[in-house]
Amino acid sequence: MAVSTNIPGPKGLPITGNLLAFRKDPLGFLMKAFQEHGDVVRIRFGPSRYVYLISDPEQIKEVLLTKQSAFTKAKGLQTAKAVVGEGILTSEGEAHMRQRRLMQPSFRKDRIVKYASAMVDLTENMLQSWKDGEQRSLTDDMMRLTLQIISRTMFGTSISTGVEEIGHAIDVGMKYVSHKATSVIDIPDNIPTKANVKFKQAAHTLDEVIYRIIEERRKEPDSGHSDLLSMLLTVRDEETGSGMSDKQVRDEVMTIFIAGHETTANTLSWTWYLLSQHPEVENKLWEELDRVLSGRKPTIEDMDQLQYTQQVIWESMRMYPAVWAVNRLVHEQVDIGGRIFEPGDTLMMSQFVMHRNPKYYDNADQFIPERFAGDLLKRIPQFAYFPFGGGPRVCIGNNFALMEATLLFATIASKFKLRLAPGHHEVVPEPLVTLRPKNGLNMVISARNRS
Ligand code: HEM
Repeated sequence: MAVSTNIPGPKGLPITGNLLAFRKDPLGFLMKAFQEHGDVVRIRFGPSRYVYLISDPEQIKEVLLTKQSAFTKAKGLQTAKAVVGEGILTSEGEAHMRQRRLMQPSFRKDRIVKYASAMVDLTENMLQSWKDGEQRSLTDDMMRLTLQIISRTMFGTSISTGVEEIGHAIDVGMKYVSHKATSVIDIPDNIPTKANVKFKQAAHTLDEVIYRIIEERRKEPDSGHSDLLSMLLTVRDEETGSGMSDKQVRDEVMTIFIAGHETTANTLSWTWYLLSQHPEVENKLWEELDRVLSGRKPTIEDMDQLQYTQQVIWESMRMYPAVWAVNRLVHEQVDIGGRIFEPGDTLMMSQFVMHRNPKYYDNADQFIPERFAGDLLKRIPQFAYFPFGGGPRVCIGNNFALMEATLLFATIASKFKLRLAPGHHEVVPEPLVTLRPKNGLNMVISARNRS
């Protein structure tokens, strides 16, 4: 039986190993590592921390699904606890299963379809301020909109004021978390470095907003809300009969707040970028939108007919998956694909790398939404396309996100045409906690005249 220490990988420097090369260009590094060394690659971060990049769908399935009990979430997400606390995203084992069972009903399809009209209405609200011919930061617009949607649908509150501040605070938090996840030296959070102080301020801003939302709702318990927040506030532990503390509610709210908006916002931003580069796709999209909607706003009933619109989004998530990698830490010795991994090893599964694997995708670097028209997802292995992860920790908001992305995209695309602003910087992906267009997207918007 092969052991993990015999696995090949790129040469590194004496102490830092491959860390600096990875830090400089994470996506390029991982792609090259896969191309040069194959489905399992050994990477060293610092003197003794080993990360194995797994790019075989069957082995990814073992890690995320069939042998998942041998793993916990890896360092990156442990660091995320500084922001999201002990919510569903970061908890493990029994605690995770309990929280997941609790929250799952709020994400059932029959529940989330009720949010469709709020999603479209908030989008139309945003569009009212859009002026033909103006230049806008599309990335900011998408972040603001998805933040409003998550607040309205999950917590029944509108945070129209302070959105910029919250957006900025989340941004600071995310950058901090992604930097810490790949640091060689772990500086404790309580040492007042510039980054730690900035992070503390951001965390404080977020706490203020979230506790305000909780407090407002506690004051009006009989208001007839049936959203995630009221569920969190009324749930009782089956054994002890006690409810969640404010801190527990805060952690779950913060988790959904963060996990639930930036991912969708980035997916939309990438979709706008790709569309602006492919007028042939855009024409086909408009043809579908005009045929199905005839100028009216989309509703949940239109989803089945907006097939091409959805293919565009799936293809955008293939090329620029908002979650570009998931990591797992081995906590008990485990055999994956005939190789033994030891406690302390980290296994990395990168959607970015997997989704561009030529074994499963022809012309993998090209934007071809039609590839999803046939039975592609039935022909390729389950984990050759996994934008939402998989197994017991699969994204709880996957249906919510797909519905949201489709409705927002359809609402905007049927009214506006978007192009990169003249002299735009080169659009390159920046892999922080999520994959975003580096330095944002500035786009010129023009009102569309339907033919
Ligand atoms: C396009 C948008 C989205 C993408 C690409 C995405 C992707 C993912 C992925 C890959 C994971 C698994 C991470 C892992 O296994 O380590 C995940 C987990 C999660 N996502 Fe999403 N997500 C999106 C939208 C959402 C939305 C809208 C919500 C909530 C409203 C949400 C809430 C969560 C939560 C709570 C988890 C943790 C689940 C658990 O550990 O049990 N996500 N997401």
